Amino acid sequence: MDAAAVRALRSDLAAARFTVDALSTVWGSGAEAALERGDRVPARRALAGNDSATAVLARLFILGLDESPRAVVAALPALGIAGAETLGLIASSTRVRPLLDLRPYAFLDARGAGEWWIASDLGELATGSALRTDHVLGVGGASVTLSGLLLPGPVDTALDLGTGCGIQALHLARESRRVVATDISQRALDLAELNAAVNGVDSIEFRLGSLFDPVAGERFDRIVSNPPFVITPRREDVPAYEYRDGGLVGDEIVSRIVGGVGEHLVPGGIAQLLGNWEYRDGRDGLERALGWTDDAALDTWIVERETLDPARYAETWIRDGGTQPGSPGYESLVDAWLDDFAQRGVTAVGFGYLLLRRAHGGGGTADRRLRRAERLDAPLNAGGSGAAASGLGAHLASVLAAHDAIAALDDAGLLALHPAVAPDVTEERSHWPGAEHPTVITLRQGGGFRREVRVGTALAAVVGACDGELALGAILGAVASILEIDVEALTAEIVPEVRELVLAGLLAASR
Ligand SMILES: C[S@@+](CC[C@H](N)C(=O)[O-])C[C@H]1O[C@@H](n2cnc3c(N)ncnc32)[C@H](O)[C@@H]1O
Repeated sequence: MDAAAVRALRSDLAAARFTVDALSTVWGSGAEAALERGDRVPARRALAGNDSATAVLARLFILGLDESPRAVVAALPALGIAGAETLGLIASSTRVRPLLDLRPYAFLDARGAGEWWIASDLGELATGSALRTDHVLGVGGASVTLSGLLLPGPVDTALDLGTGCGIQALHLARESRRVVATDISQRALDLAELNAAVNGVDSIEFRLGSLFDPVAGERFDRIVSNPPFVITPRREDVPAYEYRDGGLVGDEIVSRIVGGVGEHLVPGGIAQLLGNWEYRDGRDGLERALGWTDDAALDTWIVERETLDPARYAETWIRDGGTQPGSPGYESLVDAWLDDFAQRGVTAVGFGYLLLRRAHGGGGTADRRLRRAERLDAPLNAGGSGAAASGLGAHLASVLAAHDAIAALDDAGLLALHPAVAPDVTEERSHWPGAEHPTVITLRQGGGFRREVRVGTALAAVVGACDGELALGAILGAVASILEIDVEALTAEIVPEVRELVLAGLLAASR
């Protein structure tokens, strides 16, 4: 890495105001939305005749269009053509041609708002051709989903397994003293290293190798991976894209990573992964995924965000590889995917998040382990780029803390707590017209996973009284008396429900 060239690039990009906001201003929201749909024409037209550095860099590095050497020198005056060639950004003759995608990326995390420049391979929109199988992906939807889930730090060490362009490693570097970023692709590591350097981050170490090989014998406070989880038929006529396909059968790449995290986490260390899991022969895929940690001393919390049937799954990933329905080869690819699924009796594929935490101490707490597998598909609070899931990391951390606070408590201990309704919870009551009593009472969570919980009259009354002042036992006594029901029966009914509301983040429990 040419350090002087990287410094020059950084100062040129800053001087050019090559930022998310500046781009939005120069090409407008309609063109931006079209770009997200894979159509660059409105953006090209919006930039026509605009010779500002922002526009020149956008045409070159985002739209993949040629520029004149004179315009590029004006946009990158410190780096120059030779410096940009040294960094592998362009090829130059009578015109300058981009060799990489380079764009600003804005985010919001626990430490506040930030912005980086991220280099990756040019996509189909810029090259007009199908992706190479060693394509290095930029920041995509899955990347942003995972970065939005990352637990706040600070921690000492973190591992980003399958770093690609390095986006998770950069996020981890904000919360960790030292980060190790691995990949099987040397090109990916080179780009990730360039991205760290251009953004002034020097706490990431890059290592080549598969899965946990590059970190044998090492342990981390955090392990993060957006792994190549896309289930792909193992046939020669099906392209195997490095960025999405781990080269194994079915969902084995995810189960192997899950199986490996335990011996690479310090006690109390946490792994956060994205993954796919197969529903086989009518067996619930979420339960299968939970089974991957049956024998491990790991807290396990899996959230399924969506499921796709085999045909939809095949179509999604064949399109992602650049082959559209109706084009040559499409039908034989669908056949390959459906044959592969049929061999394992796959009826659906789940997608979601996995959070795994190594137990403190030497085990022996199996009955207190967190073991949750749940389907939560409500749209998350949307914000700008990178903010879609913001706040979820803090939510996950508070749920883990809530689990730790109540897991060891028996019912008497729980009744002594002073629970308080979380500030983002509202209650909705639906009545049949003219009816005195509600037919449905729903508690709605405004943040977190935006859960909706149907509750009965007694639980609604209990939750309504949870102000953090009264002990749960006292509240149950009062509610039993008002509803004229037996307090012991009410306690037996409500205590498990209160535990569930605490774990869901709708009630905060304090002593
Ligand atoms: C979906 S991309 C994730 C990139 C980036 N971490 C992100 O969040 O956008 C998966 C990455 O895993 C890498 N990879 C594929 N097989 C791997 C393996 N066996 N071990 C480690 N990394 C692998 C790919 O090269 C690719 O960079």
